[in-house]
Amino acid sequence: MIELGVNIDHVATVRQARRTYEPDPVIAAALAEQGGADGITFHLREDRRHIQDRDVELLVQTVTVKTNFELACAADVLSIAVRVKPDWALLVPESREEVTTEGGLNVLGDDGRIAAAVDQLKAAGILTSLFIDPDVNQVAAAAKLGVDAVELHTGPYALAKREAFDVELDRLRRAGEVACAEGMRLHAGHGLNYTNVRPVALIEGMIELNIGHSIVSRALMVGMRDAVAEMRRILDVVAA
Ligand code: PXP
Repeated sequence: MIELGVNIDHVATVRQARRTYEPDPVIAAALAEQGGADGITFHLREDRRHIQDRDVELLVQTVTVKTNFELACAADVLSIAVRVKPDWALLVPESREEVTTEGGLNVLGDDGRIAAAVDQLKAAGILTSLFIDPDVNQVAAAAKLGVDAVELHTGPYALAKREAFDVELDRLRRAGEVACAEGMRLHAGHGLNYTNVRPVALIEGMIELNIGHSIVSRALMVGMRDAVAEMRRILDVVAA
């Protein structure tokens, strides 16, 4: 069975458009669980553009499936993660200008900041995952840091058309092979939706997919529970 992590950031994006109290990502998380989510992912960004500190506290207290706290290697958010203790911490690169996370972490070129963040999270008993491009050398570098999982960046795959689609899918497969051979859990995410998710779910060794924008968009039309249940059904067919 492929585990489905539902990213609820964009429920908070709608709330922050008015800086009010609704819609509440904490309620969305509970509904996502009812729809069959195996985990809830949230990204506390440096600029607090969507998820707020209050959301993180309440999500960790109330979510009954896995919590996956996405964060940059920055002291401010690392200290919050270490205090609230989510099940998982997912380290990502972050820049202020980006609309969404644009590329994977450069683990190969790490100046020590990624390694130090991993050590800090592991010492707090939090499982760690690194968001990286589907590059076999980045996967090997991630394994050297002793992380529990890598999340392969599926953004380029999601944008690829025709021949480029096969090239990107192949990069994901090859990076996935190395991750599995190194004994890490294989996760993937970014840009996945109801129509492009199947080939990624079918990659050998794939354990977890993290999906946000597409599910939240669908939830506007049919409600969060049904939007998650629809994605759950697609993944269940793949596993059958
Ligand atoms: N994984 C990571 C590391 C992300 O930054 C995001 C976007 O917040 C996702 C997965 C989910 O991407 P999307 O919202 O495109 O489904």
